[in-house]
Amino acid sequence: RPRILSGMQPTDSSLHLGNYLGALTQWVALQDDYEALYCVVDLHALTVNPDPEALRRRTRATAAQYLAGGVDPARSALFVQSHVPEHTEVAWLLSCQTGFGEASRMTQFKDKSAKQGTEGTTVGLFTYPVLMAADILVYDAALVPVGEDQRQHLELTRDLAERLNARFGAGTAVVPEAHIVSATAKIQDLQNPAAKMSKSNAGGKGVIWLLEDPKKAAKAVKAAVTDADESYAVYFDREKKPGISNLLTIFSAVTGRDVDAIAAEYDGRGYGYLKVDLADAVVAFLEPFQERANTYLSDPAQLDKVLDDGASRAREIAGGVRERMFDRFGLLPRG
Ligand code: TYM
Repeated sequence: RPRILSGMQPTDSSLHLGNYLGALTQWVALQDDYEALYCVVDLHALTVNPDPEALRRRTRATAAQYLAGGVDPARSALFVQSHVPEHTEVAWLLSCQTGFGEASRMTQFKDKSAKQGTEGTTVGLFTYPVLMAADILVYDAALVPVGEDQRQHLELTRDLAERLNARFGAGTAVVPEAHIVSATAKIQDLQNPAAKMSKSNAGGKGVIWLLEDPKKAAKAVKAAVTDADESYAVYFDREKKPGISNLLTIFSAVTGRDVDAIAAEYDGRGYGYLKVDLADAVVAFLEPFQERANTYLSDPAQLDKVLDDGASRAREIAGGVRERMFDRFGLLPRG
């Protein structure tokens, strides 16, 4: 079976609905047909300089949400990035193949470093996409399920893989494909349908957190900014109706219903009905999700065991790829 890898940062105690719909649901859908590896990228989270105790808590919480979302540890390796040292070893090889200008062009880096200023911007933030490329290449992954915002990082990963093959011989790296499902790859912010759902917008008021009080989530849905024109027309059109289209996307994703069928049901009745029913649907989705996540969180020893098993499986693969790459680069084998 071809291999897939993906990961999320434990930068908050909860994932949000964008992470869930853009990535996690794809991970779950793919785990039958692929040999899947899903990690919590704790090393990446260090770029925001988290409090150590908070990082420990968030790393476990992120893993628990993978499980609550349906990642099955019997089929997929679920692990923590820092437990597999081959990621950082291969990241060094890739750092030495990445142009400074090439890394400077990463838009996420440009956005984040612009906010933080030159002194506040760390070297870690700059080399972040190189570590991400290593996460992928160290497993010879063929496919990487992510949301739209990771497309450029995936392009860099592919460029690096091709560069390795050109410089060190065919077969040094597998060139991965991004798996981006357009319907849900960019869930927009409820307060600003022109921007992706992300805590950095408007103080996070337009975000639905998977582990927040469902009542608060319902409120956020009801307060969603919708489109100013024709307030009774409900139809899917991302350009003309960005706010309504985002709500329809979320409605469809949490209920499994067809977007057009939902639109037809509310068209002509006004936005309020759509929002109230969507709020109920979001609550109905969140409650059992949180129950499952809490069950996993209530037994940290068992959760850590799942993560240990996952790391062992991951290391079996990563060790071999690291050895191959070190050898191709001309590093002497250890005796
Ligand atoms: P991160 O932690 O920011 O986000 C995790 C996943 O959620 C997706 N996502 C969204 N999808 C749809 N709509 C949104 N509003 C939305 N917001 C986030 C992201 O695209 C991502 O798939 N650099 C990565 C983590 C990473 C990684 C990797 C991913 C590190 N190594 C290797 C894949 C493979 C990141 O920061 O994702």
